Amino acid sequence: MNDFAANLTHWQRMHGRNALPWQGGNAYQVWISEIMLQQTQVATVIPYYQRFLAAFPTVTALATASEDQVLAHWSGLGYYTRARNLYRAAQHIMQRHSGNFPHSYDSIVALPGIGRSTAAAICALALKQRHAILDGNVKRVLARYHAIKSYPGEKKTEALLWQHAEDLLPTQDIAVYTQGLMDLGALVCTRSKPLCSACPVQRNCAAYQQGITGQLPVPRPRKALPERHSTFILLLNGNDILLERRPATGIWGGLWCPPQVENIKDAGNYCTQHYGEDAQYARVLPVFTHTFTHFKLHITPLRLQVQRKRLHATEPGQIWLAVQDALQAAIPAPVRKLLLGLQIT
Ligand code: ADE
Repeated sequence: MNDFAANLTHWQRMHGRNALPWQGGNAYQVWISEIMLQQTQVATVIPYYQRFLAAFPTVTALATASEDQVLAHWSGLGYYTRARNLYRAAQHIMQRHSGNFPHSYDSIVALPGIGRSTAAAICALALKQRHAILDGNVKRVLARYHAIKSYPGEKKTEALLWQHAEDLLPTQDIAVYTQGLMDLGALVCTRSKPLCSACPVQRNCAAYQQGITGQLPVPRPRKALPERHSTFILLLNGNDILLERRPATGIWGGLWCPPQVENIKDAGNYCTQHYGEDAQYARVLPVFTHTFTHFKLHITPLRLQVQRKRLHATEPGQIWLAVQDALQAAIPAPVRKLLLGLQIT
């Protein structure tokens, strides 16, 4: 056995997780656990796994339940596509495998909701078949072990990681080894502050030798975000401000914001139209930027004291609130920042 596999397997037996309820289970049981563990922590999964297996102990029990019953047992775990795919896969197994969970990698990977790594995990853990896994944790372990200095989500890098994962596979103890990889990623080779002093493969870890465990794996390259502009019209009457509820969908869905227009000219039109004479006292405040995941929003606040509170029938969902009360309402962070700024000026 190669050094990596030998050291990892030995470590797993001594320090790994060996009392998880799905360990030693059949392929059906390991399948359920692997799907639950895809986006959810072990501690959260355990009680769900136990209730799910009690309700649906076999493929047949799962396939003959209603989808609602299956979703009810998933309720709280999130990512419900996983449960719908489990249910679909159970129907598939009834039709094509007479209700017996298949035992070949090709048949397993063909099931709905099962990718290459999950199929390999089921094969290795439940069926002791020699297949390589490569989930997010394992990518991190291998990216560090081999000091891979490109983003693991890139096609070429991912192919290289799969190659390494296969090259390191031992010819025996595949289940212990596979669990060891998962345990190492979860317990030692963690995303931040890895516990290198407790690592069984530290001696040959290229990232450790180069002192770059903190820089690997390379994060997703940041694309330049598109930029948008918006003018926020801060209409004040004494200490009250006009807010309107955003549409339920889109950014800040359902939250309260000052009226928004695209540019300062539209803002002028809006103010003149609604507030006539008052509009000439509008004051432009400093522009600031709010960064969303998909774009940057440059916000120009336009402040205007008006003599009369008016609510416009053409703009339903508007409300005048004291700034203090507005701060208690459902408002997005940049609006909070603006309102706090208003209080001190
Ligand atoms: N995450 C994914 N599969 C796992 C397993 N079998 N044990 C612990 N954590 C996991």
